Amino acid sequence: MEEVRAVGDVIVELRNIRKEFPGVTALDNMNLKLKAGTVHGLIGENGAGKSTLIKILTGVYTPEQGEIYVDGEKVEFKGPADSKEKGIACVYQELNIVKELPIVDNMFMGSYVKKKSGLLDYAYMNKKSEEILQGMGQDISAGEMCGTLGMGQQQMVEIGKAVLLDARVIILDEPTSSLGEKEAAELFRTVNILKGRGVSIVFVSHKLEEIFEICDDVTVMRDGQFISTTPSKEMTKDRMIAQMVGRPLNNLFPKIDTTPGETVLEVSHLTREGEYYDISFQARKGEILGFAGLVGAGRTELMHGIFASVVPDSGEIKINGKTVSYKTPQGAIKHKIAFLTEDRKQQGLVLSESIEKNLTLVNIDSLKKGIFVEFKKIQEQAQRCIEKFQIRTPSADKAAGELSGGNQQKVVIGKWVNSDAEIYIFDEPTRGIDVGAKIEVYNVMNELVSQGKCVLMVSSELPEIFGMCDRVIIMREGRKMGEVSKEEEHFNQEDVMKAAWGGKLS
Ligand SMILES: Nc1ncnc2c1ncn2[C@@H]1O[C@H](COP(=O)(O)OP(=O)(O)OP(=O)(O)O)[C@@H](O)[C@H]1O
Ligand SMILES: [Mg+2]
Repeated sequence: MEEVRAVGDVIVELRNIRKEFPGVTALDNMNLKLKAGTVHGLIGENGAGKSTLIKILTGVYTPEQGEIYVDGEKVEFKGPADSKEKGIACVYQELNIVKELPIVDNMFMGSYVKKKSGLLDYAYMNKKSEEILQGMGQDISAGEMCGTLGMGQQQMVEIGKAVLLDARVIILDEPTSSLGEKEAAELFRTVNILKGRGVSIVFVSHKLEEIFEICDDVTVMRDGQFISTTPSKEMTKDRMIAQMVGRPLNNLFPKIDTTPGETVLEVSHLTREGEYYDISFQARKGEILGFAGLVGAGRTELMHGIFASVVPDSGEIKINGKTVSYKTPQGAIKHKIAFLTEDRKQQGLVLSESIEKNLTLVNIDSLKKGIFVEFKKIQEQAQRCIEKFQIRTPSADKAAGELSGGNQQKVVIGKWVNSDAEIYIFDEPTRGIDVGAKIEVYNVMNELVSQGKCVLMVSSELPEIFGMCDRVIIMREGRKMGEVSKEEEHFNQEDVMKAAWGGKLS
């Protein structure tokens, strides 16, 4: 079984691949070489064709043109089974885990091992599952229910499935987008272990720092086309960006100066048992207020409290100086609060509906004249949004579900900034979107604060916090650890990280 693979041997090669969807050329003249014992980064803007390329590799799509070679031999993947047979496995962003089942069943689903008696051989399967996970640096019992595992461990189980199948190529599509720092570090450790065993790893990410950290080579794609493959040691961040976008981007954080006005939101002693405790702060008009902390610090929960999607146990909220007592998100919206949640799927993007409809759903009232909806206005507004965020689509009446992952997120963001709120809560607003779109999101924040609106931003990307916020609140284990504004000495990454880990902002 154990064949010896020399590091650097080409396992899979794609040549001149072309894939079309109605109205879109998703891939054209795309090339890729995957070598044993290396980690290969795949980067490109939203809609560049990364996920489509992966689906060609896994046999989900058949290309209209081009060739696939495995071990130098030309092959044709008629379906996922053919690709799997050649040892190619993929961990998609949407994990394929059945939460109600233990690890062992998730690992062996579809390939259960039976005893001679015909009964399932759980003793063997448990042992094997644990062996595999241990080999990946994970000490988890195979009997553990997947639903109780964190995102990072669920992902490990998915990777474990690939290892069980003895995959030689493992593709990870934006694996760190829902992981905290610690979990991401664990994942990288596992990736390095697998690489050491000669596995070829494909790593798709919008976080360029990660590419430098983990990848040996990096391939840049733009508009479905191959741009370059370079050893990551020889790459720079600026060059990656220039190649992805087609031009250099100078100012990644285009913060404009505003003079914050009166306090619009005042939160006092807000508490929800088990989530956050005694949180007090004020936010002003024309201000971007950041919330920093580790994943699990209670920032998202606090935002749900303010939006009343999960009502706090105690505490008080004042808006424009008046105590308010709404108990539902509808109530929060009436008080002109908008919330872009971290979980974009739940945000109510209706995948089967058109982009246009999705973009204008929230403020349908302002688009009505009497009882008539003004379709022309809807179209204009949707078109403006598409241009502003460069949502990659042949037309506004395409279904939202046909967009690439990142472009779907842009629609959600576009939808919210179309509302007429006063207080905007952005939870991890730039997760999963490309550099160009990030700048657009920052520009939208600038626009909002220059109109005197107030922005609360939860972000795990510290450069973004320091690049865009006027003030930061640091949380840890549900408590506020401190607060720094940009004039202060402690307004820097190192001090804030320290506070987030439990130190003091001295
Ligand atoms: N099933 C589909 N039907 C129609 N168009 C599609 C479909 N899947 C992808 N596309 C289009 O193909 C192009 C490439 O999409 P793809 O999902 O591969 O991009 P991506 O590089 O993975 O982007 P992201 O970073 O946003 O995930 C996009 O223009 C997208 O709208
Ligand atoms: Mg994608």
